Amino acid sequence: MNHPAIPELKAAIPELESATSAANWSGVGLSRKHESAELHVLGQATYTDDIPELQGTLHAALGLSSKAHANIVAMDLEPVKNSPGVVAVLTAADIPGVNDCGPIIHDDPILSPGLVQYVGQPIFIVVADTHTNARRAARKAAITYDELPAIFTPQQAKAAGSYVLPPMKLEKGDPQAAFERAPRKVKGELFVGGQEQFYLEGQISYAIPKENRGMFVQCSTQHPSEMLHVVAHALGLHSHNVQVECRRMGGGFGGKESQSALWAAAASIAAYKLKVPVKLRADRDDDMIVTGKRHCFWYEYEVGYDDAGRILAAKVDMTSRAGYSADLSGPVATRAICHFDNCYYLSDADIRAGAGKTNTQSNTAFRGFGGPQGAIAIEYIIDEIARELGKDALDVRRLNFYGIDERNVTPYGQVVEGNVLPELTARLEATSEYRARREAIEKFNATSPVLKKGLAFTPLKFGIAFNVTHLNQAGALVHVYVDGSVLVNHGGTEMGQGVNTKVMQVVAHELGLDLCHVRITATDTSKVANTSATAASTGADLNGKAAQDAARQIKERLAKFAVEQHGGDVASVRFADDHVHVNGQAIRFHVLVGQAYLKRVQLWSDGFYATPHLSWDPKTMSGHPFSYYAYGAAVSEVVVDTLTGEWRLLRADALYDAGSSLNPAIDIGQVEGAFIQGMGWLTTEQLWWNASGKLMTHAPSTYKIPGISDCPEDFRVNLFDQPNVADSIHRSKAVGEPPLLLPFSVFFAIRDAISAVGNHQVNPPLNAPATSEEILRAIDAVTAKVAQ
Ligand code: MTE
Ligand code: HPA
Ligand code: MOS
Repeated sequence: MNHPAIPELKAAIPELESATSAANWSGVGLSRKHESAELHVLGQATYTDDIPELQGTLHAALGLSSKAHANIVAMDLEPVKNSPGVVAVLTAADIPGVNDCGPIIHDDPILSPGLVQYVGQPIFIVVADTHTNARRAARKAAITYDELPAIFTPQQAKAAGSYVLPPMKLEKGDPQAAFERAPRKVKGELFVGGQEQFYLEGQISYAIPKENRGMFVQCSTQHPSEMLHVVAHALGLHSHNVQVECRRMGGGFGGKESQSALWAAAASIAAYKLKVPVKLRADRDDDMIVTGKRHCFWYEYEVGYDDAGRILAAKVDMTSRAGYSADLSGPVATRAICHFDNCYYLSDADIRAGAGKTNTQSNTAFRGFGGPQGAIAIEYIIDEIARELGKDALDVRRLNFYGIDERNVTPYGQVVEGNVLPELTARLEATSEYRARREAIEKFNATSPVLKKGLAFTPLKFGIAFNVTHLNQAGALVHVYVDGSVLVNHGGTEMGQGVNTKVMQVVAHELGLDLCHVRITATDTSKVANTSATAASTGADLNGKAAQDAARQIKERLAKFAVEQHGGDVASVRFADDHVHVNGQAIRFHVLVGQAYLKRVQLWSDGFYATPHLSWDPKTMSGHPFSYYAYGAAVSEVVVDTLTGEWRLLRADALYDAGSSLNPAIDIGQVEGAFIQGMGWLTTEQLWWNASGKLMTHAPSTYKIPGISDCPEDFRVNLFDQPNVADSIHRSKAVGEPPLLLPFSVFFAIRDAISAVGNHQVNPPLNAPATSEEILRAIDAVTAKVAQ
């Protein structure tokens, strides 16, 4: 992605120095451009593949299984070895350490040990002089398989009792008795498809052997520490022999939380064996065929409710397609269970989730991490209840909202604090003119037999923290140099979401400096150790606090020094406007720093943060897993062509609770991006495997992510500006994942438009993604039922 600078564009953009000087004050809470914005638009931002290659660098490619489930009985790799440019071919037997790259359960071989469990499973590594020669050679293996029966769908997995880990269950109250007592009942099934992360920069690792059994890995990853562990185990080394660095990713979206490991390990194994640098860059098709995606979910539900639409009992059994290994499917299922409630109080609930073992890619993290999959089920149910009762779905939603002082405990026992939903939904209802547009749409539909409009309002609540408690920790390192410039390093990784910009703002704010004095460096396991993945939307929360802790320690030392030199008291020393204000004087920050250095004051510090008050008992599925909740809501209006199933999003209004936003410009960008990405998941992005289990939608030609023309012309995104009740970094709230739930409103607006075909008398059976074919299927079902 390192394109040569575009001269006209470069001239139009001021140099970094001047662009970020005086007027560009650092303060947290202000809209500041992304720290790499200029580099991004100029094509000068360095991604892993842009790092200049060392002399002698070789290129690797993976040889993949063509069978979904089979034992390898014979493997002729001679044609691969004899292919032009090939230097080596490595198999499982060549791995010096452990043949595993699974993040939690060790069921994830780097290279197949003889059993293959999906089409696309890596079997061998080819190392050649060029990327193309390696790829060409990889196709030349002659492998003989002894095929075994395969399981592909969650339905088949459940029927066969095939799971990657024991199914989980959360029960609250007496759901069966409450269900039986309930005057009204709704029962059904729903299928919501998976989703490819489709990061623009694919998976890539560049491994460079170092002296004395060292390995340095440049890796596009959300989780450098995990890459370090996997590489160390695969090579049979201690962690201190391995160093992993990532300056930035061209997107991760969860797909580089655990699944960058295969590429890091394979490149490192080859580099270690051959004692030369090896780069492994997946091309798009291989990336999509090999790596896991968002889990599709299949739901079976039974819900009891009263005549007003209040839910009295909820029972849901969710089965995901985990793929052939566990990967993160356990925590994903846990988060799905803990988000089934979404914004609604459930007095009596039976919520189950099983991670079905299938002969497909091992599914993994994707923005929301099971949260969206949990919450969409109850939204579907409420949508059904509303139609059954002939009520507006917003009214039924509101009736079921968590209360403020009562009806405020989740099924897993955490009290819903800081619930801004009543105010937030009221505001959005007014600003989106929801009621007036509902009336206008009804009028439109009455006289429009082919085009039908639909409208939906959906709210969200999302729990912020890793649902594995110990992961909620972070470290940072802040250096103040003698010239007063500041260098920050923290455990978070930059994937475009702006964590570096936010952490820089926090540090600049703490030291009272303009943002231009603060620079951030690549994430590096040799600088901050034992970091968690940048995931669960906690990047800025955790690393912002850790960097603040480091900056405060330096600030305290400087304040003490300032008082020693200039009098006054430490408590009244202020750091602001690039100055240190002490005892009535204003001393330039860099001047004081220079003086402090001469007096041997330590000008750098580490910092640490562990989120307080968290607890989780996986046995009882209860506790206080989240630090706080983020809220939001959206209203979407669509028009559907009922003859073709084509549709357009006419207008979308979104209101998101980012607390006291650290950077509103970045947060609005996150909300917009998540909205469109979630809309793609629920509408056009369809994963399709053929009967042999080969993923056929493995390129943008067959897998349709939203384009710019799919964005609504009228897109109104706003932040609900109210401080977090929890003591988060500057009372902000996380923003990375929760807004992915906002485009539920698009899905339900489509369902509303379909329902208009039957005059809202029947519930359209609509699965996700609501492709044009699926929309036509649902319309046919509605028409058939109305005709009965
Ligand atoms: N935004 C961009 N531009 N690129 C990404 O890959 N990943 C999302 C979200 N926003 C992503 C993104 C996911 S899955 C998560 S968990 C968060 O960013 C992680 O970053 P944060 O915790 O710093 O918000
Ligand atoms: N999100 C992302 N990754 C995780 C989580 C989570 O909640 N829990 C464990 N790994
Ligand atoms: Mo995000 S799915 O937690 O990387």
